[in-house]
Amino acid sequence: KKNIRDIDVAGKKLFVRVDYNVPMDKNGNITDETRIRATLPTLNYLLDKGAALILASHLGRPKGAPVPEFSLAPVAKRLSELLNKEVTLAPDCIGETVEAMAKALKPGQILLLENLRYHKEEEKNEPEFCRKLAGLAELAVNDAFGVSHRAHASVEGITKFIPAVAGFLMEKEIAFLGQAVANPVRPFVAIIGGAKVSDKIGVIENLLQKVDSLMIGGGMANTFIAAQGYATGKSLVEEDKLELAKSLITKAREQGVNLLLPVDVVIADKFAADAATKVVGIDAITDGWMALDIGPVSRDAFAKALASAKTVVWNGPMGVFEMDAFAKGTEAVAKAVAASGATSIVGGGDSIAALEKTGLAGKISHISTGGGASLEYLEGKVLPGIAALQDK
Ligand code: 3PG
Repeated sequence: KKNIRDIDVAGKKLFVRVDYNVPMDKNGNITDETRIRATLPTLNYLLDKGAALILASHLGRPKGAPVPEFSLAPVAKRLSELLNKEVTLAPDCIGETVEAMAKALKPGQILLLENLRYHKEEEKNEPEFCRKLAGLAELAVNDAFGVSHRAHASVEGITKFIPAVAGFLMEKEIAFLGQAVANPVRPFVAIIGGAKVSDKIGVIENLLQKVDSLMIGGGMANTFIAAQGYATGKSLVEEDKLELAKSLITKAREQGVNLLLPVDVVIADKFAADAATKVVGIDAITDGWMALDIGPVSRDAFAKALASAKTVVWNGPMGVFEMDAFAKGTEAVAKAVAASGATSIVGGGDSIAALEKTGLAGKISHISTGGGASLEYLEGKVLPGIAALQDK
């Protein structure tokens, strides 16, 4: 795809789609600014080259109405501190005032549009709204990988009115994820976790055709344990996914994929940090108890398979890592991935939070800013925001 290095941006007005959908606490403080920091290389480059920047993002899901708690004001303030430069927040993302502000914008200046999802037309990808957004600028830059799975106005529709090229973050995400799924250095190992199988079916099915080893942990592993015929007590199990789990186990065998499922688990008498716990084999889960983490034998097996990996993709924790009693599986995987020396790609808010908890985030080759977007990419889907970018 064409990127910002391939075009002349000097003196141009650019519509830069970013994904500043960042988590905030009740007081409007940003609790994780990764997505803001991740766009700085693109913004600094463009400013340096003398472009005028009109930044646009959504925040949360305000459902087409101007809800103040979803204002991008805290983001404008933080971005301004990070860039050490004034960032003006527009009162809206379309309309006469915004048009005048965009028109008056000079090279090197930054205007941040207010939350795109204050207008329902953004998610509806409504052509007239796309035209208005496009009318603010000469050219679009998409650095919002995290929302590139949405065919929304600012992501997809706008490119029917002005051409769009990739920013550096977008380029980096596509490079790492694309290389892993299309041309991985082997052994290629995937680790999939999280609460529910139903969220990751597409990813597992697609990765089974590509990986050498696949590890499954977290709440979703319970459905695979149940599918092998074991009693799972009060563990979270998706009964309607048992047949699917069975067929995935068979498929892995047929394709020669080394499928690693937990062989032991940490069980608890209740879902609480102070629960009574035991380590048991998957054939000995106590009636009335629930599995909340993978056990030590499984940890070692996962770590061993990771030691020789050359490419690793990880999405989803191995247990309820927010509670220390059930964090060992996720920590062990984080350590093993970090120690492997493999090209490692981690996506999903939970696995990233777990990595940060262990202080190992710096050892990961690429931490994706995409949640849903990175999953859809790993499912092998064409993301509309990427498809809409100009080709080289
Ligand atoms: C995300 O956080 O995954 C993206 O910003 C997309 O947000 P959405 O799921 O509300 O479309």
